[in-house]
Amino acid sequence: MDVDWESLRREARSAAAQAYAPYSGLQVGAAGMTDRGDVVSGCNVENASYGLTLCAECGLVSALHATGGRRLGAVSVVALDGEPLAPCGRCRQLLHEAGGDGLLVDGGEGREPIRLGALLPGAFEPEDIRERGRGSA
Ligand code: THU
Repeated sequence: MDVDWESLRREARSAAAQAYAPYSGLQVGAAGMTDRGDVVSGCNVENASYGLTLCAECGLVSALHATGGRRLGAVSVVALDGEPLAPCGRCRQLLHEAGGDGLLVDGGEGREPIRLGALLPGAFEPEDIRERGRGSA
């Protein structure tokens, strides 16, 4: 997959500028490229009830489905300074469902992207339900 990381990072940075993060002060943006080459993005949205906070990746995955639900091939998650931010554990799982082990995660300028499989080894995935969930025995 041919990814223009600089432009994806720029999209993520401009999503971060739209974040609603009055409590932590950490504005985060995520931008992803689908297998068709479309770009979708999201930003974090905090809440006075802190635990309800939505990470930037949640917005991105929602936008992915709202625009056709393609597979995600590459993603950049950055803070307002434009530098990559480690996706939290929950968001690694969300991203996994959207792009699998092979999803490429931005490593930052001059650094190689990282496969999501390396960030979330042995992920729980749809096959685990298909093979062992109701009706499979
Ligand atoms: N945050 C994200 O948006 N994505 C992550 O993967 C890590 C954390 C946000 C959530 C919260 O608004 C702020 O960063 C501080 O935790």
